[in-house]
Amino acid sequence: MYRNEDTASCLCEESCWIIELPPGQRSEQETGSISIINTQQRLGNFFPRSLPAPSGQRRRLELQSSLWDGRAACWGVAVTGQICKRCNMGRLDGKVILMSAAAQGIGRAAAIAFSKEGAQVIATDINEEKLKELESYEGIKIRVLDVTKREQIEKLCQEIDRVDVLFNVAGFVHHGTILDCEEADWDFTMNLNVRSMYLMIKTFLPKMLTQKSGTIINMSSVASSIKGVVNRCVYSTSKAAIIGLTKSVAADFLEQGIRCNCICPGTVDTPSLRERIQARPNPEQALKDFLARQRTGRMATAEEVAHLCVYLASDESVYVTGNAHIIDGGWSL
Ligand SMILES: NC(=O)c1ccc[n+]([C@@H]2O[C@H](COP(=O)([O-])OP(=O)(O)OC[C@H]3O[C@@H](n4cnc5c(N)ncnc54)[C@H](O)[C@@H]3O)[C@@H](O)[C@H]2O)c1
Repeated sequence: MYRNEDTASCLCEESCWIIELPPGQRSEQETGSISIINTQQRLGNFFPRSLPAPSGQRRRLELQSSLWDGRAACWGVAVTGQICKRCNMGRLDGKVILMSAAAQGIGRAAAIAFSKEGAQVIATDINEEKLKELESYEGIKIRVLDVTKREQIEKLCQEIDRVDVLFNVAGFVHHGTILDCEEADWDFTMNLNVRSMYLMIKTFLPKMLTQKSGTIINMSSVASSIKGVVNRCVYSTSKAAIIGLTKSVAADFLEQGIRCNCICPGTVDTPSLRERIQARPNPEQALKDFLARQRTGRMATAEEVAHLCVYLASDESVYVTGNAHIIDGGWSL
């Protein structure tokens, strides 16, 4: 039994209670209204900030201790009047996040947002040159990966010990109706947008099952089963499939500690969107058309979508699974 006489509430808004646990010890039990978790194993999936904070007086906690690996940094030491270490910790501290399509657009913004919240990010893409721009961010490691290639995915899986979050971002937009969509277009889109997610999840899910925890986030779109959008036939078909895939994985593995959600953005201002606009016969008009369909009068930024990615990757969303999370400025209303 470890006794700590010196617990105190800190000055942060949530008036956390501080528990001093010496290095070499770990507590894995709930004591009163405070739950102790091991941030590495995420026992019990509690999120520290959501814990009820007692109302102001000092009190003594008695905690049953067992082994720990010394990395449960959220349980810091503080004296009354200081901000505790726990409140300074990132929302993704200690999490390993593997993601695709990190070189630009939403993927890049999400990789940066993840790293700022303390995650260890394995940022992959086929575009090595652009990927290198991420190397200067703390916590981001880059790796070339073509998500349509099973052998490459399996090789990467052998190199990685654990994955807390798998974020499948890679996708391609084909412009046109069903009449404009050749079989090659259909196959290319379904291969990159859907089969790649099947391969990634099938390869990395067993690791998460061994860990008894893991979160999968798939990039879908409101152009899917949510909204019929002109000239997005095979794209919308693929993104609707991703919603189905997401719900299926969420339903099958919920009891094993796995969450699976997808993100459905409206129009996001990314390099590839700008390229698509430039590729139209009248780019100026195409931009006007894109803006005209936004009820907000503007497109989303990649950073705005990244905020949702952080939430879904973090333990703040621990009770959220199997959902298609729309972020479209009301476009689909
Ligand atoms: N931009 C939007 O308006 C919008 C809206 C809704 C959904 N989305 C979805 O968000 C995702 C990202 O879109 P974006 O516009 O931010 O990115 P983007 O199209 O600008 O970038 C896509 C990235 O994917 C990479 N990539 C392409 N093929 C790959 C492969 N085989 N393996 C690994 N990486 C590959 C590219 O190198 C690139 O860095 C896509 O799935 C897209 O469908 C985008």
